[in-house]
Amino acid sequence: MVIDKYAPIGVFDSGVGGLTVVREIMRNLPNERIVYFGDTARVPYGSKSKNTVLRYSRQIVRFLQTKQVKAIVVACNTASALALDEIETEFDIPIIGVVKPGAHVATKTTVKKRIGVIATESTIQSNLYPTLIRKEAPDITVFGKACPLFVPLVEEGWTKDPITYEVARRYLAGLLEKDIDTLIMGCTHYPLLRSLLREVVGEKITLVNPAYETSQALKRLLRELELENPQPYWEKQESNDEKYRFFSSDGVERFNAFANSVLPYETKSTTLVQIDEF
Ligand code: DGL
Repeated sequence: MVIDKYAPIGVFDSGVGGLTVVREIMRNLPNERIVYFGDTARVPYGSKSKNTVLRYSRQIVRFLQTKQVKAIVVACNTASALALDEIETEFDIPIIGVVKPGAHVATKTTVKKRIGVIATESTIQSNLYPTLIRKEAPDITVFGKACPLFVPLVEEGWTKDPITYEVARRYLAGLLEKDIDTLIMGCTHYPLLRSLLREVVGEKITLVNPAYETSQALKRLLRELELENPQPYWEKQESNDEKYRFFSSDGVERFNAFANSVLPYETKSTTLVQIDEF
């Protein structure tokens, strides 16, 4: 385990969606350096089996370890649901995912004790959100809905498009009939649809963003392990390009373009990685 407080946090996802988690880490833990890996060559994970996602996740953790990271955030909901338990025990490094923090906050938020979860097919099938919620509060009922079209629509940039609105209306109609008061946006891309989802579900339903909750969980974890970077970011000589490093397994230009639409600063270069070699 790396015990260098100045070491970066490793963050990974199946592609670009995990940048919504990076954005929250940048905002809420501004001292921390980040190494991000997006598996753009093998995305989507949301329709793949546990074995495949586990194999990919192991390779990525091994890659991030070569960057001397002090902790790892599995920014992908699908990988968190399918692979976190195993990689947490296999590697000697603190690893957190996005599902647990999202489930925990939703449990604290619901008053009617009726929660909706939207996510990829594999995350919904894993049943992890309902399992974690019921472990904390057995009297809560959880309703899941896979929304596979959201990922390509977001990547197309159609976050405010009438077509996406119509797709969301159809996906969510069943959940809205269940009288939920809390909705977990259980996929990396969905926080980018927040205002559209707000329009569809109305004002009375609380939208839970696991990306934000994960940044708070990471803050607590680093504090507990005494691994917080003590150097205030304004004292650093480092430029953002040194502090935040991005790697992907394909399409680095497309990756950069998406990153620049999500992150609060311009990323200039993303490095290509042959992830199969790890
Ligand atoms: N990152 C994935 C997730 O949060 C969405 C994209 C994919 O299917 O790989 O579940």
